[in-house]
Amino acid sequence: MPLTRKAYRAAILHSIADPAEVGIEASYEYFEDGLLVVENGRISALGHASELLPGLPAGVQVEHYPDALITPGFIDTHIHLPQTGMVGAYGEQLLDWLNTYTFPCESQFADPDHANEVADIFIKELLRNGTTTALVFGSVHPQSVNAFFAAAEKLDLRMIAGKVMMDRNAPDYLTDTAESGYQESKALIERWHGKGRLHYAVTPRFAPTSTPEQLTLAGQLLTEYPDLYMQTHISENLQEIQWVKELFPERKGYLDVYDHYQLLGERSVFAHGVHLCDDECARLAETGSAVAFCPTSNFFLGSGLFNLPMAEKHKLNVGLGTDVGGGTSFSLLQTLNEAYKVMQLQGARLSPFKSLYLATLGGARALRLEDKIGTLHPGTDADFLVLDYHATPLLSYRLKQANSIAETLFVLMTLGDDRTVLQTFAAGQQVHRR
Ligand code: GUN
Ligand code: ZN
Repeated sequence: MPLTRKAYRAAILHSIADPAEVGIEASYEYFEDGLLVVENGRISALGHASELLPGLPAGVQVEHYPDALITPGFIDTHIHLPQTGMVGAYGEQLLDWLNTYTFPCESQFADPDHANEVADIFIKELLRNGTTTALVFGSVHPQSVNAFFAAAEKLDLRMIAGKVMMDRNAPDYLTDTAESGYQESKALIERWHGKGRLHYAVTPRFAPTSTPEQLTLAGQLLTEYPDLYMQTHISENLQEIQWVKELFPERKGYLDVYDHYQLLGERSVFAHGVHLCDDECARLAETGSAVAFCPTSNFFLGSGLFNLPMAEKHKLNVGLGTDVGGGTSFSLLQTLNEAYKVMQLQGARLSPFKSLYLATLGGARALRLEDKIGTLHPGTDADFLVLDYHATPLLSYRLKQANSIAETLFVLMTLGDDRTVLQTFAAGQQVHRR
């Protein structure tokens, strides 16, 4: 295959460590006039333009953006494909919201044509918002995952997804059985896991909608295949937590249900965790599990405030999730805008560099993919964004008053959204241009 090489010149910023561990100044690299060189889908060099340009072979095309910021692609560690058509559903908290809006909407995925149509819309929306990797819930129907992976494969995206397993406490039209959920998941794993940049996630919806038999088989899948992911929900809503206590009286608590069925581990991501206690955070951290922090959803569904400082105390891996359609935006910039307010309401701060970490390297670490995505280090996948400083008149005007990259970054996260994303690149190819 011929070598393809291209270079991108702009202000360039990436997170290289967790500010909670190394302090803010050591957590990022910023090149005011930087150069990113991409070769065959991977990053081959990153540095100051003045240092790298002279060594660039003649004929390499250099794209120059004088008023933009290049960052790694964003990573969404929790989102639901089949809820694309029900974002912003009025009036209910979690359990009533699921019954009233979510289950009927997800039932439409019984039709493969519908699944294909929504998968296209969903992937376009991810890329328009700068999300290059997502950990995705399908519906209970295998065709939801087939549709999603087929669309992602065409664009060579790094994506993770799984079919929901749910064999009780949901309408009959939307349940599998312990056995069919296992077999259907297995068939999807055989078909997709490890194909290109695709990975499979075993996906029990949450403890109340799986029988002990189904949770056992979910755990069994994780032992049968190496490197599988596991995704589910935990401790999002107080009524939900009470329900789990009633359904599993023999367990110590919500996390202990998942622990008992051997669903914790280095590739396990638990969405929300708003009401986790100290011991549960410790156990999640000890097993290398991660939590997806989903602020727009937690506000929208009135679930509560995620305690990020407690997670940091335990060195628990945390990524950011939009949780569409409980969440109200595909934009991780808008998600960070709300994350900041979650911290404010708890008397804490979310620095712009911690925010950048959560949306990029933190998400990559939560998914154990930090050697491939989440930074702009040479050797990693060329999944990156060009963020436009003039995306809107207000952003353009506001950024003129910004005196540092910290301030610029914070304003991008406060005023920014899909309009801010000028271009999205995946494996070195442009997959979106505004
Ligand atoms: N808990 C179980 N299912 C869901 C879901 O679809 N969305 C959210 N936010 N929480 C859940
Ligand atoms: Zn969710």
